[in-house]
Amino acid sequence: MGKDTLTIIDNRTGKSYEAPITDGTIRAMDLRQIKVNPDDFGIMSYDPGFKNTASTRSKITFIDGEKGILRYRGYPIEEIAENATYLEAAYLVMYGELPTREQYEQWVYDITHHTLVHENLRTFLDGFRYDAHPMGIFISSVAAMSTFYPEAKNIFDQESVELQTKRLIAKVPTIAAFAYRHSQGLRYSYPDNDLSYVGNFLNMMFKMTELKYKPNPVIERALEILWILHIDHEQNCSTTTMRAIGSAHADPYVAVAGAAAALSGPLHGGANERVLRMLKRIGSVENIPDYLKLVESGQERLMGFGHRVYKNYDPRARIIKNFAHEVFKVTGKNPLLDIAIELEQRALNEEYFIKRKLYPNVDFYSGIIYQAIGIPTSMFTVMFAIPRTVGWLAQWREMLQDPEQKIARPRQIYDGYSERHFVPMDQR
Ligand code: ACO
Repeated sequence: MGKDTLTIIDNRTGKSYEAPITDGTIRAMDLRQIKVNPDDFGIMSYDPGFKNTASTRSKITFIDGEKGILRYRGYPIEEIAENATYLEAAYLVMYGELPTREQYEQWVYDITHHTLVHENLRTFLDGFRYDAHPMGIFISSVAAMSTFYPEAKNIFDQESVELQTKRLIAKVPTIAAFAYRHSQGLRYSYPDNDLSYVGNFLNMMFKMTELKYKPNPVIERALEILWILHIDHEQNCSTTTMRAIGSAHADPYVAVAGAAAALSGPLHGGANERVLRMLKRIGSVENIPDYLKLVESGQERLMGFGHRVYKNYDPRARIIKNFAHEVFKVTGKNPLLDIAIELEQRALNEEYFIKRKLYPNVDFYSGIIYQAIGIPTSMFTVMFAIPRTVGWLAQWREMLQDPEQKIARPRQIYDGYSERHFVPMDQR
């Protein structure tokens, strides 16, 4: 039986070094002992985009990208999506165990009773232009909440951490729905405590003149499943941002705002919006081959395809695709679904995609369902940010408890000029 170490021979000096291997990793800091002379800084690893760098230990989410497996706290995502309510899944991700009935009821009560936002926040929201993108409103309003709750800066006060966690989870749907109503010029619809977390969101989005909004149970459950699937996905770009901002001990409101800003990018959470635009642009099944040619020649990307971690079918995409038909029985069929199904089928049989292991990701089908439910395209990333707030907070809390975590501060390879001297303007 060999040893759990890695032997590195530095061919510059002929010296040999031994680094322990733990959990399939070596410590980057172990490379620093490798020097050509005592003044040398030592070797660093270079990894743009963190493609092969573990930045933390985590007990929250497990992904096996090669096999297409996703688990929250050990439970397969398929079982959670089928059996749990949204807040039950959120509790599991946050605290590590499924709640008992008593814990669950307290959790639901606490979240339900924090859904209102301060009226000043509502007037703050009124200040945005009528056509402001809801994701911009969402990011700014979440950041603004930091000014309403200054005690949130006490990030090592457990009571405060609990309170801010509940406030954030409770208030993000309110902010999201208000952002939408603002962009439509509609009166804000206030939270209704009789409804579920998801049902209340639909109420705040779509209530018009009726005295009491009654969500359609199929749509409510569809949205609940979509949100469960989006709660956490380990160290993705926005979660890494959350941890990086949190590592400087900033408060959770600004950290969530920063994470949401990362999520808004088209290569991350902005992709579902782009998928819809792409499907509309393709327009009909007949135009698919021409679009695929553009993708294969590098002129376009097939949005909703490909993933840094999944080199197999994204399990979330499979769940969404399967229940899309249930939703369409209620809403009527979205014609874009035919294009999406055919596009997926063709792409999966094309050499270009097979060779690169490109499969549909969670965003490929989620946008089509959101559209069928009546959510405008500009709201799609906000719809992602609501459930991911739970994941961000769970990851942030885990980081604060981790004695190994330090302020995030990567190194660089300096590629610029060596020292040079200032030249007065008239001599340049
Ligand atoms: N369409 C066409 N080609 C693609 C796609 C795509 N969607 N995704 C990857 N490729 C190609 C790349 O061009 C590259 O080809 P090459 O080797 O010939 O240069 C190869 O596949 C590897 O791609 P990378 O960009 O190096 O992979 P990376 O892991 O950096 O990117 C990403 C992953 C950003 C998700 C990428 O697949 C992508 O842009 N997909 C479309 C956007 C999208 O759907 N994002 C949502 C991701 S899921 C989420 O955030 C919730």
